[in-house]
Amino acid sequence: MRLANKKILLGVSGSIAAYKAPDLVRRLRAEGAEVEVVLTRAGAEFITALTLQAVSGRRVHARHLDPEDETVMGHIELARWADLVLIAPASAHLIAKLAAGLADDLLSTLCLASTAPLALAPAMNRAMWEHPATRVNVATLERRGVRLFGPGIGDQACGETGAGRMLEPEELTALTAGLFAAGPLRGVSVVVTAGPTREPIDPVRFVSNRSSGKMGYALADAAAAAGARVTLISGPVAQPLAAGVRRIEVATAEEMRRCALEQAGCDIFIAAAAVADHRPRYPAPRKLKKDAVPAALELERTPDIVGEVAALPAAPFMVGFAAETDDLARNAMAKLRAKGLDMVVANLVGREGTGFESDDNEVTLFWDGGKAELPRAPKRELGRDIIGYIAERYHAQGAAQDP
Ligand code: PMT
Repeated sequence: MRLANKKILLGVSGSIAAYKAPDLVRRLRAEGAEVEVVLTRAGAEFITALTLQAVSGRRVHARHLDPEDETVMGHIELARWADLVLIAPASAHLIAKLAAGLADDLLSTLCLASTAPLALAPAMNRAMWEHPATRVNVATLERRGVRLFGPGIGDQACGETGAGRMLEPEELTALTAGLFAAGPLRGVSVVVTAGPTREPIDPVRFVSNRSSGKMGYALADAAAAAGARVTLISGPVAQPLAAGVRRIEVATAEEMRRCALEQAGCDIFIAAAAVADHRPRYPAPRKLKKDAVPAALELERTPDIVGEVAALPAAPFMVGFAAETDDLARNAMAKLRAKGLDMVVANLVGREGTGFESDDNEVTLFWDGGKAELPRAPKRELGRDIIGYIAERYHAQGAAQDP
């Protein structure tokens, strides 16, 4: 049982996804958790306290400063009791209240009064999730360390399709268990870049490369499984996203650079993306007619993203990749030094079966004073091994820096 003796305060706010809350309570309890449910007034429009009481085996808390409730377990006591506050579903309105620090009902008051970690499973219409106000509120909460579980992408109750669907109770239970898992990167924030970038020639043509994103996505999955808070900055690829990984989609090297600099406050930065080294100097604003496409494109260098992040005054632990066709060790060590990295994951490319696009890879890790050779294996497996080495080096470096 992955949640044995864990005390979970489950907040249920106003969304149609509240109908999944009883199943979530049941699954959390099946993993050994004790669950106290707090139902907001809007949540009670979608699901009854009686149902939640039946599945949690406890009285449901629904009213702020309820004289009867306060004698059983006062709201401050409830806030102190929790090992985790999980709000599922978390509506756009509730997210806005938490971002503003309001305390006008029992659930929002408990969130302010509790020092336990807070996790939210957003559930709302696609347009509400994409609204700039919600984007700012979510970013504010994430900066404070609030964990976001989802939302998922797919068909919504309102008939639209897009991001905003609450994750399924099974996925939420797994993510909750992950918060308590004792992985080597527990509590560590990790940014991974993955996939290619596309550098426009005109609005429909671009310069790019064959990166599929498999290696970067495998690393993001493995880091999340090791307990890290993972943000994946992804170029255009079609890879499935592991539950618990936050993805930011970008297209060009410049977009990836801006996003990387915004996320550079992380603890570990892993640059697995195959950033295009060059881009057309003069991309056309309109689609070029066939005959107007120049026979030779004038190119310019793209920014060196990993080098820029590594040069920041409080740079994270930096892991770069080196894709080489020959002289792996010499080129990888040169990149380690030139870009100011803590580790380089070097792979030979241009061979059948490993490197770009393939399911397998074969890499050598280099760091100052050491190296590790990881023989050919599926990228998912290699991802776990690479994360193991990164965790070890990251902690060793932290220990060496501690006075
Ligand atoms: O995506 P897959 O199909 O699974 O393939 C995996 C992979 C082969 C793409 C991956 O294993 C890999 O090698 N990624 C790095 C590819 C690359 O661009 O290597 P490089 O040697 O050109 O760049 C060195 C490092 O600088 C890399 O960490 C790269 O992300 C970074 N870089 C490069 C150019 C640039 N303008 N900015 C950068 O930050």
